[in-house]
Amino acid sequence: MKKRALTGVKPSGTPHIGNYLGAMKPIIDLQNDYETFVFIADLHSLTTVRNAEELHRNTLDVALDFLALGLDPERTVFYRQSDLHEHSELAWILSCITPFGLMERAHAWKDALATGKKDPTVGLFTYPVLMAADILLYQADLVPVGKDQKQHVEIARDLAEKFNGIFGETFKLPEEMTPEEIASIVGTDGEHKMSKSYNNTIQIFAPEEELKKQIMGIKTDSTPVEAPKDPDTDTVFKIYSYLATPPEIENLRDKYLSGGFGYGEAKKMLLTKYLEHFGPAREKRIELAKNLGYLGDVLKSGGEKAKKIASGTMEQVRQRTGLIL
Ligand code: ADP
Ligand code: TRP
Repeated sequence: MKKRALTGVKPSGTPHIGNYLGAMKPIIDLQNDYETFVFIADLHSLTTVRNAEELHRNTLDVALDFLALGLDPERTVFYRQSDLHEHSELAWILSCITPFGLMERAHAWKDALATGKKDPTVGLFTYPVLMAADILLYQADLVPVGKDQKQHVEIARDLAEKFNGIFGETFKLPEEMTPEEIASIVGTDGEHKMSKSYNNTIQIFAPEEELKKQIMGIKTDSTPVEAPKDPDTDTVFKIYSYLATPPEIENLRDKYLSGGFGYGEAKKMLLTKYLEHFGPAREKRIELAKNLGYLGDVLKSGGEKAKKIASGTMEQVRQRTGLIL
């Protein structure tokens, strides 16, 4: 029997290469060897989005992004979190065994407080409980996530253990998958991880002119063109390395080390590589966007498949907890 891998992605705007390498590609790569589940975490987005039209548009966008980047709905169960009431239902049940202190120790919550987030909500506080429900409902073995989400998967594991301890063996304990080399893709400022909130991203589906601006805006040091450069401290080189083959990376490394090669040229090479790498996905996305009916069908059918599993788990949860007559 194949093991199960699952991940969720918040519909929160256009994806960048950090989202792709850290969260989208890992699950797409598992499609052959695992039973894969991907869902659009629209309920989680409600912690930040307060506009129906925006949430709706972002949901369609992220679905298009995934299909364009290689998610195959024949092999992956692809659905919308809010289509299954089981997510919210299990989240409540889990919240009743979740220690307050565990939530207080969650990095994302602590960061929100530390950065002076105005009027933090209960939803933001219990965010990891809903995420645990997302994972445990499907008895997932593996959860590919970026580094910042790792702790949330650990929390899911803690809650599964706690529930099993109280009510009897019910949930599988999930493991996170965060490959070290892509755990935190650096942003164009060369300083922070690439993130929408730092405005240091290179987007996958931005128009070419915009992409050019993002790449040309990568921060570099002031080594003059003629001088040799250190590839290992340079952000253009780092980002190029995420996309290029080993011989291509070696070739660029040599150029850096031998001097007479400016950062401007390196950025042009990166732009070319970027367009070559994402060209097919960019074209596919344009085609898919012409047929939103197909997109709706994919998500509907994914929701039906997900429902079978989620409702089976909930049946057990209801029995174990006494929520049955
Ligand atoms: P952002 O920081 O741009 O708002 P999200 O928080 O929406 O991105 O992250 C969506 C997914 O992409 C998460 O699984 C997250 O861990 C992953 N991710 C985001 N930024 C990066 C990055 N720079 N490197 C690796 N993974 C990332
Ligand atoms: N919290 C994740 C993020 O911000 C999205 C998410 C929601 C998720 N539920 C999940 C990821 C379950 C993995 C598993 O990116």
